[in-house]
Amino acid sequence: MTSDLEEIRKQAEAEIAGAASEESLLEIRTRYLGRKGLLTGLLRTISTVPQAERPAFGQRLNEVKDALDERIEDALQRVLSTDRDQALLKEQIDVTLPGRAVLPGRLHPITRVRQEIYSIFSGLGFSIVEGPEVETDYYNFEALNIPKDHPARDMQDTFYVEGNVVLRTHTSPVQVRTMERMKPPVRILSPGRVYRPDSDVSHTPMFHQVEGLLVDRHITLGDLKGVLTSFLTQFFGEDTALRFRPSFFPFTEPSAEVDIRCVMCRGAGCRVCGQSGWLEILGSGMVDPEVFKNVGYDPEEVTGFAFGLGVERMTMLKYGISDIRLFFENDWRFLEQFR
Ligand code: DAH
Repeated sequence: MTSDLEEIRKQAEAEIAGAASEESLLEIRTRYLGRKGLLTGLLRTISTVPQAERPAFGQRLNEVKDALDERIEDALQRVLSTDRDQALLKEQIDVTLPGRAVLPGRLHPITRVRQEIYSIFSGLGFSIVEGPEVETDYYNFEALNIPKDHPARDMQDTFYVEGNVVLRTHTSPVQVRTMERMKPPVRILSPGRVYRPDSDVSHTPMFHQVEGLLVDRHITLGDLKGVLTSFLTQFFGEDTALRFRPSFFPFTEPSAEVDIRCVMCRGAGCRVCGQSGWLEILGSGMVDPEVFKNVGYDPEEVTGFAFGLGVERMTMLKYGISDIRLFFENDWRFLEQFR
């Protein structure tokens, strides 16, 4: 019996010495010292040991158990510390490397200018209304009194989706949709994306417009001038000179284009303003009675004005940007300049 015990001890010691991982040491512990382990098995055979030898056998068995337990503990410490050393070695970091800078996010210049436009007009009592970017011919053209043979309706100037469905070429259809829905007074601003098949330094196939509409009793051209003057001087600065120039739009009568004194040359004449000293900034006019009839308003009862402007153009002039395509390239060297 004692010789069995010594055999098992030697065997266990050899295995412990050879074990290289925590896992195998735990397995060895279970196999020898566990409840169904080899040493526990020997203890159960104690009844076969002659009476006189039992105490000595029992004592020796306990000694071996304790000794093996201790060895396994030591071996565990050994493998765990080598594991830790190796992990530390692998995870070593070079604290002398320069850090990687995280760039703070910024609002896109178009977003900033849009927000600025909204905030000026909300100060003037306008509320924002949006409409669909995919429009019918009716809302984009017909209801706005744009005749069938108008060049804007040409395939060259409009993206057709199918049949009578187009990508809206301006945000003006929202004025029609809004007047169909509500009775005067109306005082809205409708911002959004619009689409035209154009592409060069000052045109992209998609750009942003803001349309404004104000309808009530007794609205005059004076109101149009007052609101647009207030807006443009808030946006470009108090000392900005303005000019209202007669123009034509099918949906307004009379119509006016509004120019500001060139922000680059201050009126002296330069490449940006084509030597004229003036920059065209928006289209506007008194809502044409035909448009009122199309939405069921009585042109004898109410009058109103409307205007439309391009957000990219406003942004280019405000910040002196010469190529519209910079807005859509997402080059952070450009974008990070707008703080
Ligand atoms: N819809 C015009 C365009 O896209 C802009 C415009 C001009 C809108 C005059 C208006 C307006 O409401 O009165 O070119």
